[in-house]
Amino acid sequence: MQTSFSFTSTPQIHFGVGKFKLLPRLINNYGKNVLILTGAKSFTSSVNWDILRESLDDLEISFAHFEIPNEPSPNQIDHCVKQFRENDLRVILAIGGGSVLDAGKAVSAMIPLNKPVKNYLEGVGTGESHPGIKIPFIAVPTTSGTGSETTKNAVITEVGKNGFKKSLRHDNFVPDLAVVDPSLTLSTPKNQTAHSGMDAFTQLVESYLSTKSNLMTDSLAIKALNQLKDGLPLAVNEGANIEGRTKMAYASMISGITLANAGLGTIHGFASSVGGKCNIPHGLICGSLMGIVNRITVRELRKQDATNLALSKYARLGRMFSQKDDKGKDYQIDFLLDQIDQWIEEFEIAKLSRFNLEEQLIPSIIKETGNKNNPYQLNPAELDEALRNRI
Ligand SMILES: [Fe+2]
Repeated sequence: MQTSFSFTSTPQIHFGVGKFKLLPRLINNYGKNVLILTGAKSFTSSVNWDILRESLDDLEISFAHFEIPNEPSPNQIDHCVKQFRENDLRVILAIGGGSVLDAGKAVSAMIPLNKPVKNYLEGVGTGESHPGIKIPFIAVPTTSGTGSETTKNAVITEVGKNGFKKSLRHDNFVPDLAVVDPSLTLSTPKNQTAHSGMDAFTQLVESYLSTKSNLMTDSLAIKALNQLKDGLPLAVNEGANIEGRTKMAYASMISGITLANAGLGTIHGFASSVGGKCNIPHGLICGSLMGIVNRITVRELRKQDATNLALSKYARLGRMFSQKDDKGKDYQIDFLLDQIDQWIEEFEIAKLSRFNLEEQLIPSIIKETGNKNNPYQLNPAELDEALRNRI
């Protein structure tokens, strides 16, 4: 954990039940012309869509609407930019899951430039660096998972043999405003609540254990994990429970801040490599691999580096779940690992073979999987072991 650090900015945040109603006035602060990005149906079939449109009309704000049905591809971003770049937009609003928020973030960054977004993606681009100029961007999550409303990157996906899942990233791409209203997540279906919730869980644990974690990210992650501990089972098992939804909305929002500042670990390394090859929801990949990757990390740290700070951090998390202060470090670590596995089972997080992840893809996935800031760097054999455990 670093005691000397820099901290990236966060959006101006409006958090709480009912905050959605602030949106028209907040949009109006930027001007009278907004582009609204949503998913294919869930938000636009809700009463909130009608309320928003009527309020915009009342304020004489003109708006255009663009749908992002799946994880955004480079072509989709370029298409949206081309369609609206002459519209003199004052602000872009994205209301939806992580894919919609990432798309909005990318469109707001690409409208001022007249170039394909792929040029600027990490690892697959032309190496040009984005100047960081953008149109103001408001993020409104309707799921609790990715924390995209507080991060500085947009994940862009091209699925296929040469597919990728890469980020458009700049400190300036942190949304200007995040309006996080837990009531918007009430209609998220059970399986999606579980997948995105396990994503938030993974993001908080990985950024907490990260070799780049610092005093601030640790403070934020611990409190958010405390919320998630009670909120995740409530939100998954009782979807209409606003207390559970609120705890998860908070945990997810904070996970974006901690990952933007401390980075992530091997599970998100897999999410990037597997997600580029196969069309599997991001949160499902994270949830599916969370148990085994943490087990291998703990196993190897115990063998090779028993005094590593990460083991003490695992124990602290375990104590949070076990609530047995009189038990020792190993007990607490094992309790946490068992808890992760129990949730994978209880929330029916599928194995990756349930999708089209086939045996022959494994070598190229392993080659492309980075350990990021994981406290232990898994070698190719251990990455292979982790992946095969979930096939
Ligand atoms: Fe994630």
